[in-house]
Amino acid sequence: MLRRLHHQQPASFAFTPENLKWAEGQISKFPEGRQASAIIPLLWRAQEQEGWLSRPAIEGVADMLGLAHIRALEVATFYFMFQLHPVGSVAHIQVCGTLSCMICGAEDLIAVCRDKIAPKAHQVSEDGKLSWEEVECLGACANAPMAQIGKDYYEDLTTGRFAEIIDELRAGQVPVPGPQNGRFAAEPESGLTTLKEFDSGHAQYNASAQAAVDLGDTIKRIDGTEVPVLTPWLHKDHDSVPRQTELSDDADRSEGHSADETGVMKQEAPAKTAAKPQAQAKAAPEPVATEEETAGTRPALLDTAREGTPDDLTAIKGVGPKLEALLHDLGVYHYDQVAGWTADEVAWVDRNLEGFKGRVSRDNWVEQAKTLAAGGKTEFSDRAKKGDV
Ligand code: FES
Repeated sequence: MLRRLHHQQPASFAFTPENLKWAEGQISKFPEGRQASAIIPLLWRAQEQEGWLSRPAIEGVADMLGLAHIRALEVATFYFMFQLHPVGSVAHIQVCGTLSCMICGAEDLIAVCRDKIAPKAHQVSEDGKLSWEEVECLGACANAPMAQIGKDYYEDLTTGRFAEIIDELRAGQVPVPGPQNGRFAAEPESGLTTLKEFDSGHAQYNASAQAAVDLGDTIKRIDGTEVPVLTPWLHKDHDSVPRQTELSDDADRSEGHSADETGVMKQEAPAKTAAKPQAQAKAAPEPVATEEETAGTRPALLDTAREGTPDDLTAIKGVGPKLEALLHDLGVYHYDQVAGWTADEVAWVDRNLEGFKGRVSRDNWVEQAKTLAAGGKTEFSDRAKKGDV
């Protein structure tokens, strides 16, 4: 397929200040004389910012890397992941048309695109909001048919649901990605047949969909304020050092989003993205604890097990030998200790389980411990006793 630059080009291109800082961080990863190695990340960031790669963007990246323009043009025109034509201002939809998806209805999805977006691939819809293309296998064949929108996969699509998703995007909403037919992830449609003990429990979404929900707006054009620039090797003299305050802002952004019951992600308060003064950026950062780093109340802990005999904490689902040792290090030895934790104390323990953060609430230890402390047994502790776990 011939890949040409679009016949209409903008007059110029510039990275946002944050994206420029990010790009400089990428370039600094490579030794002197090897800066050209940063070309793909830089072109990709230019596309994330603008939606597509214009000639000024490609040439601007080449200039940043000290390359002849033709070298950057070669890369941009070679890889299909680079969009050389303008895309919809809201989203560019990539429908998988390879075998599994084709068998399961990709052609019908493409017909929806032709009907609701534009008759031809890479054509922008009349309202300028959407565009589409057919792409090769995106590696989600078990959830065919599917489409990638922004950075996320929308799987197990039907024509009806796909049409709804397009309408929601057009209306400024961001539908929750992942399987659209009620499946949690890629398990059999009839339900789990094995590894049932790893059932998702109370989780509403699989990890990928949850990450998207936490981020809130997965079709947003990336302006560089989304995550801190991580260049610790430039720590001493570069102002792109990650700052606690930036991390805190980022956490705020994550928390500013949620999914409503209709499965559409909502954006709440606008993110705090104001640029920080240069002087402040260069000052030695005082460690500022984020809310997450200080959450919770320390529960009552013991120096040692009562009468020298701890309870078998591995009878609590989710606690293995490593976690049990970690709990002992913290001063937790008995079921009744866990059973008595308040929500604040759970938050504290969740935060202090290095390498296992969040496990207390994830596996609902408190309820399990209440049963065990009262001398009862849980379905898991029963199986554990029989050696069936
Ligand atoms: S065939 Fe569509 S994701 Fe693999």
